[in-house]
Amino acid sequence: MDAQVVNETEGGQQGRLSPVRAAVIGATGFAGQELIRLLSRHPRAAIAIATGSQASSAPRHLPALARIWDGTVVPLEAGQIDADVAFLALPEAASAGLAPALVKSGMRVIDLSGAFRLRDAAARTKWYPATSSMPDGVAYGLTEFEFEAIRAARLLSNPGCYPTASLLGLLPLQRAGLLLPGAEIVIDAKSGISGAGKAPSDRTHFSENHGSVAAYNPFGHRHVPEMEQALGRSVTFVPHLVPLDRGILSSLYTRLVPGTTPAAVTAAFARAYADAPFVRLTGDALPEIKHVAHTNFCDLGWKVDEATGRVFVVSVIDNLVKGAAGQAIQNFNVMFGFDQKTGLL
Ligand SMILES: NC(=O)c1ccc[n+]([C@@H]2O[C@H](COP(=O)([O-])OP(=O)(O)OC[C@H]3O[C@@H](n4cnc5c(N)ncnc54)[C@H](OP(=O)(O)O)[C@@H]3O)[C@@H](O)[C@H]2O)c1
Repeated sequence: MDAQVVNETEGGQQGRLSPVRAAVIGATGFAGQELIRLLSRHPRAAIAIATGSQASSAPRHLPALARIWDGTVVPLEAGQIDADVAFLALPEAASAGLAPALVKSGMRVIDLSGAFRLRDAAARTKWYPATSSMPDGVAYGLTEFEFEAIRAARLLSNPGCYPTASLLGLLPLQRAGLLLPGAEIVIDAKSGISGAGKAPSDRTHFSENHGSVAAYNPFGHRHVPEMEQALGRSVTFVPHLVPLDRGILSSLYTRLVPGTTPAAVTAAFARAYADAPFVRLTGDALPEIKHVAHTNFCDLGWKVDEATGRVFVVSVIDNLVKGAAGQAIQNFNVMFGFDQKTGLL
């Protein structure tokens, strides 16, 4: 079922003539609409089918995407999906059921939900009970750190939005051996309301959220095991809702091994992201959500207090782009041998 793909090096020669046929499942949601927007201008992809959820609902257009994509969203009928790759922008229980069947039929699948993010069976049962087993060939799609696994993946599990922002800020220090073993890692993150999906709730209702900031789910968020899996150590994570439509700012606090200089921290970030087109290092000019809104960039700034060994890192992304659809397209590019910037820059 795979389209023919010939190797294409980063920035290199065009290797295929026909576009990859993409299915977008969950096209009426926030992340799904972002996928449609990005895929419709992707030079190597063609949207073969876009579906909503209800088998009974009539085909519909997406008004916000008129003249960008003139297709129609059709009801989801699993047997009708004929494509080279399927992007699933669904609640995790729906993905857990659909993804293995699509992989089995020969499609490559990029799942934006959490259904296949956790390798540990007990953790998966606790946080994503609908996922009965992990199919073979699953890769965790934090593009900057999992490039080779992503290239080979049959089922790509796109990271959560908070983990994307937070891990991009912490992993370079951890891999360079600069994080003090046993020190608390505190992740204090703020998200715009679109992170909660399109179904309104008391917490996300405009009148409740506008003019306010609220912490939620301290110690109890399902993104904690995902971040701990990647870091191999525990974190204290408290997410907050802020009155923005989109964007995440993750403030990261921890301690460095004694003697770590600011230059060593700068060198660790520079080394980790030397070949990463979507990570911009701002050093002590701390970045803001507005700098990355509607883009696939993650901007990272930091400050080291040498006297106490403390480090503060701030990481910003657009939750719907680098935190969801944009990173999914970046992973799609890697999986199909395209330059990872294709359709994103
Ligand atoms: N929002 C974010 O910032 C973000 C970031 C990272 C990851 N994610 C993950 O990406 C996925 C989609 O998130 P979202 O925010 O786009 O959600 P959303 O706005 O609520 O959209 C959900 C989509 O799934 C469809 N759907 C709902 N229930 C379904 C079912 N049982 N079977 C088939 N389709 C169903 C909906 O179709 P109808 O319109 O027909 O109801 C809609 O197209 C979630 O797993 C979420 O955790 C979201």
